[in-house]
Amino acid sequence: MKIVVTGGAGYIGSHTCVELLTRGHEVVVVDNLSNSAKESINRVEKITGKSMDFFKADLLDKNAICQILSRCRADAVIHFAGLKAVGESMTMPLTYFHNNITGTLNLLSAMARAGVKKMVFSSSATVYGDPATLPITENFPLSATNPYGRTKLMIEQILQDLFRSDPQWHIALLRYFNPVGAHASGLIGEDPRGTPNNLVPYISRVAIGLLDRVQVFGNDYDTPDGTGIRDFIHVTDLACGHTRVLSKIFSSPGLVIYNLGTGRGFSVLEMIQGFERACGCTIPYEIVPRRPGDIAACWADPSRAKKELGWEAVRTLDDMCRDTWNWQKKNPHGYARL
Ligand code: NAD
Ligand code: UFG
Repeated sequence: MKIVVTGGAGYIGSHTCVELLTRGHEVVVVDNLSNSAKESINRVEKITGKSMDFFKADLLDKNAICQILSRCRADAVIHFAGLKAVGESMTMPLTYFHNNITGTLNLLSAMARAGVKKMVFSSSATVYGDPATLPITENFPLSATNPYGRTKLMIEQILQDLFRSDPQWHIALLRYFNPVGAHASGLIGEDPRGTPNNLVPYISRVAIGLLDRVQVFGNDYDTPDGTGIRDFIHVTDLACGHTRVLSKIFSSPGLVIYNLGTGRGFSVLEMIQGFERACGCTIPYEIVPRRPGDIAACWADPSRAKKELGWEAVRTLDDMCRDTWNWQKKNPHGYARL
């Protein structure tokens, strides 16, 4: 199959390209490189020994996207492209709505015009807001507490409306929990610009000596050690989930929704300890006040994906920390925007 991957130069997209190429798919990446480096494409090709087509294009450029879709005769699109920083979305809401929503609308129009009606969308566990109970199933009520989360929720609704209007679409909404880790080769990984917002890239930069200490946002949550709990999932497990979902949506039209998580939560302090085991050094940290908007705990019920896709996460916390550290050690400054 020929798969267009929007945002394929980014963190989750690049790992998914590896899994697609490994399974014999042809891959066309569309990315404006606003939060990534072209070097990730070269690295994916190095890992797999296969080449991909790459278009440096912005989803906001409707003509460019229409041309790419109409020329490349794809079978399906996996749509990762989007802005994803929660804090930034609160200071730049219009930028987030424009990029994520308008970009998706342009993409969907281009797909419809080219007759490509199979779409896998990167949603997020953020659409569950602050869940009343755990674990979270796909039927939980949805809400959003920031503009980034609202873009995910709105795009889910847009895709539901699209499917209702034309049941020939094959759509998968994938709600990721907390992707971490890197490819086992250490050639690709997460490469945030500036100071990382997310826990694991932050720990990793402390371990390599680029940052002083981890700030633990609150130890007064109602959790066993008082720190936040999340369902961290290895990015390679997540990437493999996409290949399973593709097989599922190729088999029949419909709109399907899956949680992609491990079903197990780890606390902030457990992640720091896991990283200490991986890097063999002490990670300094300090307890600071809670980060506004954070919830105490969040983990998935991934049983629907296991039952319907035959997919489950197999990599452990130690695998996640070891692979993150391997990537960080080999690439202390990431792709260095080569
Ligand atoms: P990322 O920033 O590494 O990748 C996104 C890619 O999209 C980047 O390469 C960026 O350059 C590109 N992009 C952004 N806007 C674009 C546009 N208008 N046109 C073309 N390309 C554009 O992020 P990621 O962590 O790989 O996340 C991928 C997707 O998964 C995003 O939609 C994100 O919201 C979602 N998601 C991520 C997480 C997470 O914690 N990483 C969790 C849940 C959901
Ligand atoms: N944390 C710290 N210190 C840090 C960073 C984070 O203590 O420097 C804590 C947070 O308070 C939270 C946990 O580590 O308890 C995880 O925080 P992250 O920022 O790594 O991840 P979030 O769960 O806040 O959010 C991430 C993505 C969202 C996505 C969500 C669910 O950033 O976009 O996972 O997929 F929606």
